[in-house]
Amino acid sequence: MQKHIAIVTGASSGIGRELAAGLSKKYPLDELWAVARNRERLEELKKIMPIPVRVIPADLTEQAGISAVSEALTADMPIVDVVVNASGFGMFERFDKISEEDSLGMVDLNCRALTAVTYAVFPYLRAGSKVVNIASMAAFQPIPYGSVYAATKAYVLSFSRALAREWKPLGIKVLAVCPYWTKTAFLGRSHAEGVIKNFEVMYEPAFIAEKTLAAMEKKRDYVVPGAYSKFTHALTKLLPHSLVMREFMRRQGLK
Ligand SMILES: NC(=O)c1ccc[n+]([C@@H]2O[C@H](COP(=O)([O-])OP(=O)(O)OC[C@H]3O[C@@H](n4cnc5c(N)ncnc54)[C@H](OP(=O)(O)O)[C@@H]3O)[C@@H](O)[C@H]2O)c1
Repeated sequence: MQKHIAIVTGASSGIGRELAAGLSKKYPLDELWAVARNRERLEELKKIMPIPVRVIPADLTEQAGISAVSEALTADMPIVDVVVNASGFGMFERFDKISEEDSLGMVDLNCRALTAVTYAVFPYLRAGSKVVNIASMAAFQPIPYGSVYAATKAYVLSFSRALAREWKPLGIKVLAVCPYWTKTAFLGRSHAEGVIKNFEVMYEPAFIAEKTLAAMEKKRDYVVPGAYSKFTHALTKLLPHSLVMREFMRRQGLK
């Protein structure tokens, strides 16, 4: 009998970790496959999960990391009920002050790896399977001092929404999730504190996971979790992006 599994990248921390925990309670899964670089933190997941966890330590910016996922799939031939692409990072500074390595790292992880994982899992998806891609509120407009990060998240949102249409006849749901600032390790790695002085709102990762799990059962192809996020999203749809960017910079005291 084929196993029913969920795969969560970025399961070692933050939103991915909360989603891994939520999925294991909500869906009748045989296993959850947890992917990220930090093996120890992935092993810790086993202690809190009600179902078996397969740890796949992988740096998804490297081909070997993507191969670790695809080789595990080829060996086990499971049915992938859910795949969550939560691995990602962002840096906030003037473009020329972010290293080329970090900028290309954002493109590699947030866009390239997410696309590669989607290719890897496709043969194992079935009608009823769900693909969840963690985008960001940054996806809706350009973000000065977060130029590369916002562009990568615009990719995630655009790719996911188009894919949702393409795979609808196959019965595969694709959902993009667009969180606002969320209290995770993301902020430590992002250096956002040097640039972003006004966070306005800070959500808990468990809240983002809860709203994501609810949205997975609905028809929409993207979700903006939280009332303040929804309000801001509405403004970004109504106002010219030049005005949105100017207001963002004014609020952050940026020139
Ligand atoms: N926090 C926010 O304010 C916020 C807002 C909007 C969107 N998001 C998005 O939400 C997603 C989850 O981030 P988070 O907030 O939960 O931050 P987080 O706690 O830092 O989680 C990021 C995850 O990505 C994994 N990761 C990082 N580099 C990786 C690599 N090279 N290969 C494989 N996995 C890697 C990390 O695990 P390892 O370090 O173990 O590899 C970790 O599990 C990201 O896509 C982020 O862009 C975050």
